[in-house]
Formats: sequence, structure tokens, C-alpha cells
Amino acid sequence: MNGRKGYLNPFPWFAMKNKATVKLRKFKPGDLDQILKIEKACFSKTDAYSKRKFKLLFKARHNFIVAEKANEITGYMIAKVKKNLLDFVSIAISKRHQGLGIGIILMKFIINYSKACGIKKASLEVKTTNKKAISFYENIGFKIKKTVKKYYRDGKSAYLMEKSL
Ligand SMILES: CC(C)(COP(=O)(O)OP(=O)(O)OC[C@H]1O[C@@H](n2cnc3c(N)ncnc32)[C@H](O)[C@@H]1OP(=O)(O)O)[C@@H](O)C(=O)NCCC(=O)NCCS
Repeated sequence: MNGRKGYLNPFPWFAMKNKATVKLRKFKPGDLDQILKIEKACFSKTDAYSKRKFKLLFKARHNFIVAEKANEITGYMIAKVKKNLLDFVSIAISKRHQGLGIGIILMKFIINYSKACGIKKASLEVKTTNKKAISFYENIGFKIKKTVKKYYRDGKSAYLMEKSL
């Protein structure tokens, strides 16, 4: 994904689950305003990433993928690869498009791609109070490994969740 040799660029990628047909493609700076709107609606003030943070994540060349439906961004996902580990940084789907399968499409896309690149494990942190996200990750096969106390800026704890690829 990040220019690895020997793999075709998989974008754009079209996928469908339930009522959702989306186009997946790489993030481009012109998407930022739409992404920030989704971010603000989905996360609390202390948890939402700023414009600057998104720009830094883009610059760092992590896997930054957006899902698009009729030219509207419906969600995004950022994941970094560290050695043999796929580490999810963030995912959010616009409120209007939640529950349609778009989150699953984004997660499965990067998981399958990483697997094909030889990556063995995926991990992420999720707020222990975010029940919806926890069941979303469990549905994909992630398991809670431990609690990381005071992981978030508001002092709340995270679960570290992992999945073998
Ligand atoms: C969590 C989130 C990314 C899920 O994306 P989504 O597109 O709404 O989820 P999907 O439609 O792909 O759902 C896939 C599975 O997740 C689970 N799930 C989704 N919504 C759920 C809900 N409200 N309650 C319980 N489980 C839920 C179900 O197992 C579902 O599978 P099913 O459709 O076969 O029942 C999305 O709701 C979101 O953006 N939330 C706000 C931001 C956030 O919390 N991000 C995670 C930070 S760690």
C-alpha cells in the first residue's frame, strides 16, 4: 500500500455489503473538510483528531483510506504497518451511513491486503466505554488482550485488542 514493491496498487476498489456499495480510495488533502465533519460528529472534543493531526498522519504515509458513495465521503480508516504488525489508528463512518457495512468493508479490505503482504497480526486500542466499536471489532475477530489505563486525553482507559491474520 505504501509503495511496497511487487504489489499492484489496488485502488480504486469497489465493494458491497448489505445496502452499502462504496468505492475505496486513498485519502487526498481535498477530503480533509469532509473527514473533519465526520470526526466531529463521531468523537468527543478530546478524542477527535484535529486538522493538523490528520495532515501529520497523511504525511507519515500511513494507510489512509476513504470510502466514497456518489462523491460523498462516508467514512475513513487509518492504519500503520510496523514490522509484522498492522496497527489501526482510527476509523469513523458518518452517522448517516453507520450500520450499513461500510466499517466492515474498510477493515476487511486493509486486513486482507496486509495478509497478502505477509503481515501476521493486527492490533488496535478502543475506549472501554465504546461498546458499539468493541462489538464491531469482536465481529471481525479481534479479542481483548489487556486494559491500558489512562490511554486517552480525558483519562479514560483503552482495551488493547488483537487479531491474528
Ligand atoms: C464503530 C464503527 C466504525 C462501525 O462502522 P459501521 O459501518 O457502522 O459498522 P458496520 O455496519 O460495518 O457493522 C459491522 C458489525 O459491527 C457491529 N455493530 C455495528 N453497529 C453496531 C451497534 N450499534 N451495536 C452493536 N454492534 C454493532 C455488528 O456486529 C455489525 O455486524 P452486522 O451488521 O452483521 O450485525 C462506526 O459505528 C463509527 O464510526 N463509530 C463512531 C466512531 C468510533 O467509535 N470509531 C472507533 C474508534 S476505536
